[in-house]
Order: sequence, then C-alpha cells, then structure tokens
Amino acid sequence: MAFPEGFIYELKSRNDITEVISSYVSLKRRGRNMVGLCPFHGEKTPSFNIYTETDSFYCFGCGAAGDVITFIMKIENLDYVEAVKYLAQRAGLDMPEDSYDDSLNKLRRRVFEANREAARYFYRRLMSEEGKNALGYLRGRMLTDATIRHFGLGYAPDSWTGLCDYLKSKGFKENELVSANLAVRRHSGKGIIDRFRDRVMFPIIDLRGNVIAFGGRIMTDAKPKYLNSSDTPVFKKSENLFSLNNAKNTGSRALLLCEGYMDVISVNQAGFRNAVASLGTALTTEQAVLMKRYADEIIICYDADEAGQKATARAIPILRAAGLNIRVLTIPNGKDPDEFIRSKGADGPAAFRAIIEASGNDVDYRLQKLRSEFNLAVSDGVVDYLEAAAHLMAEIESPIERDVYVSKLSKEFGVDKNALLLQIETISKRRRRDSRRREARQLQSELSGRDDKLDKEHRSRLKSTAAEESLVVYLINNPDSLSYINSQISAEQFQNALMKRFFVYFSNRISEGLEPLNNITADFSTDEQSVLYRILHQNGSVAPTPRSLREYIEVIERESRRPSDKKSMSSEQISSYFDRIRRDKE
Ligand code: CTP
Ligand code: MN
Repeated sequence: MAFPEGFIYELKSRNDITEVISSYVSLKRRGRNMVGLCPFHGEKTPSFNIYTETDSFYCFGCGAAGDVITFIMKIENLDYVEAVKYLAQRAGLDMPEDSYDDSLNKLRRRVFEANREAARYFYRRLMSEEGKNALGYLRGRMLTDATIRHFGLGYAPDSWTGLCDYLKSKGFKENELVSANLAVRRHSGKGIIDRFRDRVMFPIIDLRGNVIAFGGRIMTDAKPKYLNSSDTPVFKKSENLFSLNNAKNTGSRALLLCEGYMDVISVNQAGFRNAVASLGTALTTEQAVLMKRYADEIIICYDADEAGQKATARAIPILRAAGLNIRVLTIPNGKDPDEFIRSKGADGPAAFRAIIEASGNDVDYRLQKLRSEFNLAVSDGVVDYLEAAAHLMAEIESPIERDVYVSKLSKEFGVDKNALLLQIETISKRRRRDSRRREARQLQSELSGRDDKLDKEHRSRLKSTAAEESLVVYLINNPDSLSYINSQISAEQFQNALMKRFFVYFSNRISEGLEPLNNITADFSTDEQSVLYRILHQNGSVAPTPRSLREYIEVIERESRRPSDKKSMSSEQISSYFDRIRRDKE
C-alpha cells in the first residue's frame, strides 16, 4: 500500500489511541477498555468504546469505528494522507521519503492554496480604488477597519475574469479554479469566468486556518442577496460553521448561534467573540455535534421574523439531541442581531448583553410560543394549554428539569402539581410503549419466522454470515490457526462478499507475517471498517474456543453446499423457483 507497513506500525505505536482520543473525549475506564460520549453523534449515555487489545474504537450508537488514523480523519476532517501526516507530526516522526500524494489529495491542497490567494486578492481589491464603493458599503454597515481586517473581508471586482486571470498568472490551472468553485466554465465550454463578481466577500475559515469557501453579498437589492461556494473537495456546507475558528478560542463553553455572516460580524464587533453562523442552511446534526466539541450551551440568536422562528423550532431538537443546553434570544421588534445592535448605537453591546441575560432556555421558549395559541382567559383554554404543555414536558428526560417547569406552571395556574406530573407520566409511558412496539414490530419483520421457503433461505444466510463473521474474528485473534483453517475451508465457500474479502485479506497478511489490523484504514472504507470492528467487539471479551471454531467451519461448509441462493440464480431458475413455492402453497 501507499505507506510502508513498518512506518504505519511505528506511527500507530507512537500514537497511543487512548491518549490521542482522550484529548477530544473524556474517557472512563471500564474493564480493560475505555468508554466515553461519542464525538460523532449526540448522546447522553456513553456508547463510544476504545479497545486497547485491538487499538481500535467502536461506537455502539452510530457505528463509527476504526483505528487511531480513522479517528483523526473523522474528527479533524482530514483525508487519509493528511491524517497520517498529522499523527506523524504529533509523534515527531519523519514522513517516509516518497510519500504518496494521490490526485485528490493534491487537488485539495491546490484548492486550499487557490482560496488563500483569492482571499488576499479580494482584500487588496477592497482596499484599492476599485473597492471604494464596497468599502463604503461595509463602513455604512458600521464595520470598523479592524473588524474588516479581522474577518478578512474583501471585494470581488465587477469583472468577468479578474480573479481567474490573477490566479492563472500565479500558476493555477483552470480545473483547479473550477474545483475550488472560484470560477465556472463558460457556457460555450471554452475557458472559465469568475464565479463572484461585484460582491462583498466573506471568507469561511476552518479550524486549522484554511480558507475553505466564500460567501459574497451583492450591494444592491438584486438577487440572490448572497452567493456561496457550493461544496468542493475541501468544503461541505452542512459540516461547517462560519467563524467557528474565532469562536472556539474564547474560553467560554457557550456559543451564540446566528443566521448570517453580518450577524456574526456585528456581534463580534460588539465584543462577543463566541458567535457562529450555520451558513444559510437549516442547522444540521453534523453542525450540532461539531459545536458540542467546543460548547455545552447554545444561545440561538436567529432573526425575530417568522423564518427565524421556524428555524429556531427546527434547531432545538437537533441541538438537544447533541446533548447541548439551549437558550433562545428574543430580539425585540422583529430585528436580526446585526440590526438590533446597530439600532442601539453606542449602547449596542450593553443592550445585546441584556437580551442575552434575559434569554430563557428552550423549554421556556416553547412554552411561551405555545401560550400564544390558547385563550388563557377562559378555563377551557387553560386546560388545553396545560394539556399541550404536558406533551412538551414529556419530552424532557431529566426528572429534575421536569419538576422545575411543573412547579412553575402549577403555581401560575393554581393547579395541583401532582395532577400535572401524572398527566406527563401517562403521556411518556404511552410514548415509551409505542416506541417499544414499533421496535418489536420492526425486529419481527426483520427476523420473522414466516414459514415459507424464501425465509428459510434468508435465515440460513443469516446463520452462514454469523459463522463467517466469527471465523474472521477467530482468525484475527488467533493468527496461528491459519494453516488449520486453510486446510478445512476455502474463501470460495463464503457466502457473504465482505466476509470473503476479510478472510482473504487477513489470511494473506498473516501468511506474510504482518500484523493483521495494522493497515486497515488504507485498505478498507469507513463502512467496511465499521462492520469489522462491530464483529470484533460485539461479543465483548468472549473469545471463541477451538471447539466453536469447528462449529463455524461446519456451518460454512454446510451452507456452501446448499443450492445457490436467489441472487446467483438465472432468471429461468428464479421463475421456476417461485412457481415451485406457489405450487407448494396450493
Ligand atoms: N443566505 C444565503 N443566500 C441567500 C440569503 C441568505 O446563503 N440568498 C444566508 C447567508 O449566510 C445569510 C443568512 O442566510 O447571512 C441569513 O440571511 P438573511 O437574514 O437574509 O441575511 P442577513 O444575514 O440579515 O444579511 P444582511 O444583513 O446583509 O441583509
Ligand atoms: Mn441582516
């Protein structure tokens, strides 16, 4: 493979997986292993495990799995080669001489470089004669020169090829500029033109300081108001947040979540550096999980208009599911944070602080919204409101938190606290029962024992897959058994294609004297690794015995002698097969 086997071995032994992960996840010892809250999905009870035996991690919640290299790829959002470099640097290890640089990796590097050059170019244009108007626009929006510099704002001139010509003169190729989404191909197909023209530019910077994308605002009422980089080899809109590079270092475990670039910038200028924006998309789970790495509390600062309130309602469950505490800012008079701060002039910072301090949490916010839907002047209205409120509170997991709201409501409306608690308990019991039933039904339909032939085939395939999985695990844990296993069984007898590949792969590595799991990240996709670590760890520490080995081999043997399954039948075979089933049923 790409890197010498010995180098990867050295790299992994110098980067202890527990030590590396512990700087991202707080871990507790459980037996020989470590557990913690999974950094790749939101959760409140730990299902993220580190197995010191196999130097791997596996999350039972989301299936994320791999070795220390995979972990760095996922958490730092790096590709394979970048992650290896990162770990080499961490351990003070030199990279091997002709370390490989596949074309995608090379392209990513070029896109980073093109973006950086473009950001510099836009900034210089803003400060030049050509950018006078744009600079005037930004100053008109009350931004100081220091703020403009801090965010690296710029101006894309009113020209078809200004940026393209400049970057080409710097040695960038047309395909690199198109990949960076800084340019688009002409309709004629010949040549390229600038993507951003006559716009104020907002660079988006990742956590390591790379310019990964741009947003560009038009300075008139023309549409679209904002033009953003689409996804590129270095940018996925749904996984990034504007200004997280600034916000992550403030020492505060709270983030102000805004809708737009200008809000974040205004809020920053008012002295709140922990603001981020979700880049104009509906907030995603990836973004919530990313925030959870730097914050425990999110203060939603979306616009006070209807769209902003809808977005708030959608964001709350996503943030909650990521284990974040939530507060919701109420901005008076339908304004957005930027307009609010500006409208207060010199008092902007203090006024903004005051509304942050006055912000309630998400439950308060939702109860407040709910309230407006009922007529609380009449008893019926109060009953309906409390009924709806009970539904809302049934979603709260913490009994203490529930109790706080129940007490408040019971005082406010003079109803018995226990009656409210009972109501909530009935609702959540019903919900738990419904979801249990749903799960049971699903499981039943997956493993159903309906007695037709198709299902027997299905069940036997499950059985052979289980045996194949166990055999692969046994082989990895007992490399010495290779020659015995090879004398009993061959790869052709495997039914499951992935298990067959694992079997061949590990057999080869063991016979070459290589550590079986050393190079997994280079040789298998993340999904394949997830399967591998699931089967390696699902049985905990129950290691299969030689006697069970005999059983696996027998099952694989027997199943391989059954007539081939539906998939490999010819169409004639399939129709005669179904004819037979139909006849059997009559
Ligand atoms: N947005 C976008 N494309 C648009 C409109 C909006 O990508 N056509 C995104 C931008 O990230 C923008 C955010 O959604 O910052 C919020 O939009 P909006 O509230 O309309 O803009 P403001 O941030 O208020 O921008 P401004 O104050 O400059 O009008
Ligand atoms: Mn605005």
